[in-house]
Amino acid sequence: MDTDPRDPSSVFPADFVWGVATSSHQVEGGNTGNQWAEWEKRGKIKSKDSCGLACDWWQNAEQDFDLAQSLGLNALRLSVEWSRIEPEEGKWDGAALARYRQMLLGLRERGLRSFVTLHHFTNPQWFEAKGAFAAAESVVLFERFTRRVLEALGDLCCDWATFNEPNVYTSLGYFLGEFPPGKKGRFIQAGRVTCNLCLAHAAAYRAIHSLQKNANVGWAQHFVVFKPRRPQSALDRWLCGFIQRRFNDNFAEGIRRGRAPFPFSKFGQELPEVKGSCDFVGINYYSRLRVGFAARSPKTLFFQISVPPHKPQGDSGIEIPYGEAYPEGLRNAVEHFAEYNKPIYILENGVPDRDDRIRPWVIESTVSQMRTLLTEGVDLRGYFHWTLADNFEWNEGWHLRFGLFELDPATQKRTPRASAQLYARLIKEAGALVRT
Ligand code: FCB
Repeated sequence: MDTDPRDPSSVFPADFVWGVATSSHQVEGGNTGNQWAEWEKRGKIKSKDSCGLACDWWQNAEQDFDLAQSLGLNALRLSVEWSRIEPEEGKWDGAALARYRQMLLGLRERGLRSFVTLHHFTNPQWFEAKGAFAAAESVVLFERFTRRVLEALGDLCCDWATFNEPNVYTSLGYFLGEFPPGKKGRFIQAGRVTCNLCLAHAAAYRAIHSLQKNANVGWAQHFVVFKPRRPQSALDRWLCGFIQRRFNDNFAEGIRRGRAPFPFSKFGQELPEVKGSCDFVGINYYSRLRVGFAARSPKTLFFQISVPPHKPQGDSGIEIPYGEAYPEGLRNAVEHFAEYNKPIYILENGVPDRDDRIRPWVIESTVSQMRTLLTEGVDLRGYFHWTLADNFEWNEGWHLRFGLFELDPATQKRTPRASAQLYARLIKEAGALVRT
């Protein structure tokens, strides 16, 4: 490529996507019909916070759209809440769909391209009660939901992510018990859930393409850089390799090769209908973790994650470290998915950092890493920072703060952190094209 790597605007294409990412439950407020609301009622949020109004998007997402516009962004990623759109099985809420139309129009008016995720961790309670994605019926139910969303919103958006982080959904929900339904060590069930997520993804992929000519469809894969805690220990090295394959390739291998997830892959099971069902690979990248064997830790299934104390870290989770902030790892992520030969979008990247101690460094290093990757010819199309304003961080509640803007959930006041201006400056220097 004939570019000067020192001049950012000559490296980032003018239509490079610069955005922020969000999800319905974390920002909308008032989502009482999904399994996370139930999880909160059962006292499972570690901070004991309640999601409440969240960032009040159901009433006023537009104030955050204004902030996004003020930073010079040209895109925003949000998700639609299945439990609002189909509050009872087979019953559709036209008002909820109308509100999403209004939001997507609001984004368009502000020159922000919308990326819509169809499933970001939350299930309607009626669907959860049927076994969610552990049940075979989930595939047709998800496809029907996708079609309804496309019919209602398809003229306003053509960039779709079917599932957000299917690997996090299954490993935290069925293996570590950190997310609903709170199951632990269920290898086989987790495999079945991943199978159905793959099939539901492929069905949605085809449904979207049958309804929209110019659709751009992918999913968001969470990628972690794993390292053995004691590189000299054969056990740690084995464990690290095992976890890295299970986690980073879970679901994704179904799409690349049509391979059934572990443990079914071991019996030669295949999912041919899933193979190739993506137009892009979406990567959510945050951190590096050391994994080590821990004989006395049955609670964590005999492995433990850790971060060496001298490594840069944002804030820690209530019980477990969030991970080492390791911007160079974006390269590992991108190289890991290079074999897909598809355009890549970074659909999430960020750090929990209430005091904005290291976020500026994370953002700056990540942008510089992307510049290098683009210069090397990587087909990187966009970057979404997680997130615009602090939002409700799942089982950590309001404890972990990822926002470019600090949010006081009680008053809904937003205060920019230094990172907000920094991100705006970097986008400007990169010469982003803002659509009007
Ligand atoms: C990702 C999730 C997102 C948010 C960030 C911090 O794993 O997709 O909803 O919680 O982490």
